[in-house]
Amino acid sequence: MQQEITIVKRMSNIKHKIAVMSGKGGVGKTTIAVNLATAFALKNYKTGLMDVDLHGPDIPHMLGVENAILEQSTNGILPLKVRDNLEVMSIEFMLPSKGSPIIWRGPKKTGAIRQFLSDVDWGKLDVLVVDNPPGTGDEPLTVLQSINQLDGVVMVTTPQAVAGEDVRKCVNMVKGLNIPIIGVIENMSGFTCPHCKQEINIFGKGEGKKLAEELDIHYLGSLPLDTTVRKDSDQGKPFLLHDSKSDISKKFMEIFSKIENRIKK
Ligand SMILES: Nc1ncnc2c1ncn2[C@@H]1O[C@H](COP(=O)(O)OP(=O)(O)OP(=O)(O)O)[C@@H](O)[C@H]1O
Ligand SMILES: [Mg+2]
Repeated sequence: MQQEITIVKRMSNIKHKIAVMSGKGGVGKTTIAVNLATAFALKNYKTGLMDVDLHGPDIPHMLGVENAILEQSTNGILPLKVRDNLEVMSIEFMLPSKGSPIIWRGPKKTGAIRQFLSDVDWGKLDVLVVDNPPGTGDEPLTVLQSINQLDGVVMVTTPQAVAGEDVRKCVNMVKGLNIPIIGVIENMSGFTCPHCKQEINIFGKGEGKKLAEELDIHYLGSLPLDTTVRKDSDQGKPFLLHDSKSDISKKFMEIFSKIENRIKK
C-alpha cells in the first residue's frame, strides 16, 4: 500500500509518460525509445528514460553509459544524467558485472519494476519514456498497471506479417486495459541500396498502416533500414545526434512531432 502511494506520488511529478512496446522482439523498440527520449531532451523537455527490459537491458549500451555508478539522494536512487535534459535508469546499472543475467520468475520481476517506480528519484520531469521488452508478459503488464495516467503507448512493428500478428495481440492487451495507444511506427521499412539507389523491401512494406486501419489506431509513420542506425546503436550513440539532417533523422523527427502533438492534446 505504502509502495503504491509512493509510485502514484512519483509519477504525479511527471507530466507525460509514454511506454514503447511491441508484441515482437528485435523490431527496434529500444532504438526508438532512445531516440524519442533524445528528441524530447533536444527540444528542452526535462526527460527520463526508464529501461524495464530486465532480461535484455540495452539502453545503457545504446547510450554509451554501461559502466555508470548510481548515486543516492535522501529521497531515493538518482537516475544517471546522460546529457542536458536526459536522465536514465536501467537494471543494468545494478548488476554485479556485465554479462550477469537476471534469472527471475514473474512475481520477482513485477516486484523489481514496482520498486524501480517507487525508489527512483526522478524529481519533476516533463516526459518519461519507458522501454519495454517484447510481448505481453510481466514487464509490460506491470508498467501498464502501475504507472498512473500513462499518456499512452507507442507501438513498434516491422513490416512482416508475423510481426503484425504479434503486435496485434499487444495492441489488444493495451486496449483491454483502457490505455490509449499513441500510434504505431513501422520500423525497418524498406532499404535503399547505396549502390543502385533502388528501394528493396527486405521485410515487406505496409504492415504498420494495415494494423493501424484494422485496429483503429493512429499511424505515426515508417523508418527505413539504415546501416548507420545499427552502427550508432552499437557505438552507444542515438542516430539523431550523429546527423540531425540525415534522411532517417528527418523521418524520425516527423514521427516525433506527431507524438509530441498527440500527448499535448
Ligand atoms: N531502422 C533500423 N535500421 C537498421 N538497424 C536498426 C533499425 N532499427 C533498429 N535497428 C537495429 O536492430 C537491432 C534491434 O533493435 P532494438 O534492440 O532497438 O530492438 P528491440 O525491439 O528493442 O529488441 P528487443 O525485443 O530485444 O528489446 C539493433 O541492433 C538496432 O541497432
Ligand atoms: Mg529492446
